[in-house]
Amino acid sequence: MKDPSFRRSVALFRAFMREQGDPATAYTLLARDAADQVERHGPVRGKVVVDIGGGDGYFTREFRRRGAHGYLFEPDTAELSPGERADTVVADGYLLPLADGAADVCFSSNVLEHVADPHTFLSEMARVTRPGGLIYVSFTNWHSPWGGHEWAPWHYLGAERARSRYERRTGRPAKHRLGDNLFRIGVGETLRHVRSRSDVTVVSARSRYWPVLPQLVPRIPVLREFATWNLLLILRRCS
Ligand SMILES: C[S@@+](CC[C@H](N)C(=O)[O-])C[C@H]1O[C@@H](n2cnc3c(N)ncnc32)[C@H](O)[C@@H]1O
Repeated sequence: MKDPSFRRSVALFRAFMREQGDPATAYTLLARDAADQVERHGPVRGKVVVDIGGGDGYFTREFRRRGAHGYLFEPDTAELSPGERADTVVADGYLLPLADGAADVCFSSNVLEHVADPHTFLSEMARVTRPGGLIYVSFTNWHSPWGGHEWAPWHYLGAERARSRYERRTGRPAKHRLGDNLFRIGVGETLRHVRSRSDVTVVSARSRYWPVLPQLVPRIPVLREFATWNLLLILRRCS
């Protein structure tokens, strides 16, 4: 599907709304979409692609389907389906069991908002990427309408209130707790950080899902915190 386009955004949104009941369809579509975004910068066939915090491995499988040597790194074995366990490296993104420059593409989708120290996480991604290699990193920022994850959009009224409301309404414990496995991360602060780094250059900064002018929204202070929804950074590892 053409990116950006309304058709693509609507398809992704619909899949996302059905994610709980049909995760396979939602994540297969999302993985194809993300792999297309990576391949805009060059084919992955024959390349080493590492997926950090890849959950159940949908993205890694999609990269392998396209001929890449795809490796899944995931610290939480509860995220893995039984079939994926043998093929996964159980590892934390802060300290990857990889040599410097081992990867042609270092990929991470929707993990940065789940780590307490995103700068160290990014440093490790840069370390394992070869000079000239590509880094794909996307995350949902805190002030995004989806920033509170399962308790969104009530996080605008406060995290604890939103979380308690979710648990009261559903009768289920919430998966995320602010400061434990979900953190406030902003678009502006992250852009300033990556631009100041000496180990990467910013190839592109855009809203991952926006149907029109996805590069424009992240440039507008204040508005970008609410409207970007999910920031996608494509970085190039410096030599
Ligand atoms: C919202 S899920 C995203 C899964 C998948 N990447 C996706 O886009 O669907 C967040 C993932 O980040 C992982 N994660 C959390 N902290 C991490 C860390 N320090 N290093 C690597 N992965 C981490 C979690 O275990 C979980 O699988």
